Amino acid sequence: MATSAYDPDIYDAVYMEDASDVRYYLGLAKQLGGPVLELGAGTGRAVLPIARAGIDVVAVDNSPEMLARLQAKLANEDVGTRNRVRVIRGDMTGLRVEERFTLVQLPFRGFLHNLNRALQLACLKVCYQHLRPGGVIALDVFRPSLEVICASHGALAGVWRWTDDFPADGKRVILSEATTYDNEVQQLYTCHRYDVLTSAGTLERSFIQVIELAYLFPGEMRELLATAGFDDIRLAGDFEGGEVVDGSEIVVRATRR
Ligand SMILES: C[S@@+](CC[C@H](N)C(=O)[O-])C[C@H]1O[C@@H](n2cnc3c(N)ncnc32)[C@H](O)[C@@H]1O
Repeated sequence: MATSAYDPDIYDAVYMEDASDVRYYLGLAKQLGGPVLELGAGTGRAVLPIARAGIDVVAVDNSPEMLARLQAKLANEDVGTRNRVRVIRGDMTGLRVEERFTLVQLPFRGFLHNLNRALQLACLKVCYQHLRPGGVIALDVFRPSLEVICASHGALAGVWRWTDDFPADGKRVILSEATTYDNEVQQLYTCHRYDVLTSAGTLERSFIQVIELAYLFPGEMRELLATAGFDDIRLAGDFEGGEVVDGSEIVVRATRR
């Protein structure tokens, strides 16, 4: 069984369809006019629609596999879109580029890869330093769920649970998950197991993706953003401005002074 942090094939098969966040980030980019910096850009789910809308984007990720997929997608875009995207392999906690942006975005919980306070603050400082005065940071993270916490500690920690079953390239993929929550460090350790079945139902391959994420409460997000210097900090529970509740998202928007 193979193990990896992110597999671009699986990532695109599973996450390409969920677009409410992509629409949200595209709307912000259009409103602010760009240029946009995306940290943890992955295979370009949010980057490509922004570039297609005529806005310059710098896409940063530390995974060569995810960036190779983004480059391959760019090769199929028209020359204008292709030229609007600059791809950089780098770390969101230590990046330095010359440009300054109207929007720095971290869609789809990428910020939670920063597992401790030092990394979280380093990342927010990178965001702050790369924004123009009045520029906006936008990101989304989980609102910690008591249900997930209870189901992921003690005797239930690490129990495999069926999560999803979906078609991909004429095959069937069964997704299961085993999560352990460490309350001391507020971190989730999740194994996603993908069992890929042929059309005849034979197991073709199994693949495990291990993801470690920080689990941050709304008050902690506010405190981190304020410590990094951000102003006008707004938190919503979804991309339509709903309330933050147990198990919702935390959709964060704040401004550089
Ligand atoms: C959940 S994916 C989100 C990808 C993309 N933003 C999207 O919306 O589809 C998180 C991405 O963050 C990247 N990543 C994790 N830690 C990172 C770090 N320290 N610096 C840069 N990228 C990182 C991963 O490789 C992955 O592509």
